[in-house]
Amino acid sequence: MAARLKVHVDPDKCQGHARCKALAPELFELDEYGNAHEVGDGTVPPGLEDKAWLAKSNCPEIAIDVIEE
Ligand code: F3S
Repeated sequence: MAARLKVHVDPDKCQGHARCKALAPELFELDEYGNAHEVGDGTVPPGLEDKAWLAKSNCPEIAIDVIEE
């Protein structure tokens, strides 16, 4: 069974590039300043694991962590 994943955005690193939101709108939302945070507690629903890794690898600020639980 695959590990459950969680995503987390480091608010100190995020500069609002919004690639995470474009690539994985189910996992990230933007605040009024355009900075991202994870939806809910960051738990990645089954089937969206690839999007979590994709968002992590596409963030220019390396602000996204994917945690395997
Ligand atoms: Fe921020 Fe990176 Fe997304 S800079 S808005 S976490 S692509």
